[in-house]
Amino acid sequence: MSADWPEGVARHVLDRVDSTNAEGFRLTAHPAWVLAVEQTAGRGRRGRIWSSPRGNFYGSHVSRPTGPADRAALRSFVAALSLRDALVAVTGLETAFTLKWPNDVLLNGGKLSGILLEGQGGLLAVGMGVNLIASPPAEAVEATTVRPTNLLAETGFRLTPEQLLARLAPAFAAREAQLAQGFDGIRHDFLAHAARVGERITARTMTASHTGIYRTVDDHGALVLDTEAGRITIPAADIFFADP
Ligand code: BTN
Repeated sequence: MSADWPEGVARHVLDRVDSTNAEGFRLTAHPAWVLAVEQTAGRGRRGRIWSSPRGNFYGSHVSRPTGPADRAALRSFVAALSLRDALVAVTGLETAFTLKWPNDVLLNGGKLSGILLEGQGGLLAVGMGVNLIASPPAEAVEATTVRPTNLLAETGFRLTPEQLLARLAPAFAAREAQLAQGFDGIRHDFLAHAARVGERITARTMTASHTGIYRTVDDHGALVLDTEAGRITIPAADIFFADP
């Protein structure tokens, strides 16, 4: 383990697993990081499959959160920010990585990673997939969504999953400590790197689609959108840019 691995956090590295989130729930000691070289049933948001070939990063931080229930969901921002922190630290590319609400990390505007929060039996799994060397072809994703990309193709950096985890685990612990002080700092830092604030976007929830100007993220982590019908706040949605 690296010298700055967070104290008291277990580390499990597996060759092959169904899903690192699922494996995290099967563990008996938490908090823990689970890293897998390959996933056979990687899960994406909204029931989608997360294609998980060897060479990319598949990792989950699993813990038993204490504190208010709504604080747990804010770990989504902790995850996105800490992943960005780790990638900036490794590559030195300060402006290349931006954050698409609620938690995608973009690289030069393309989707580099996905984050999935799942809860089970009082445990919270924060699962992260990062396209280190491969990404799905553009035809494999919805035309209106951002194009997938990967670190190697976009920057020439070849990073192994273990190297990324060594940076990510301390970054995640630091951002968790920041969240323990309240959401203000995390919200501020998220907005400092947020993609497309001030631009026209579409937010799709399970039941509706809203188009408007992306104003900000409120102090509960919800998206604030100025639509023709007025200002609305949306706690959960997928967002789409006019020119993906
Ligand atoms: C998304 O749809 O954007 C979220 C994808 C999350 C994928 C990661 S890979 C590690 C963890 N294990 C899973 O099964 N899913 C998450």
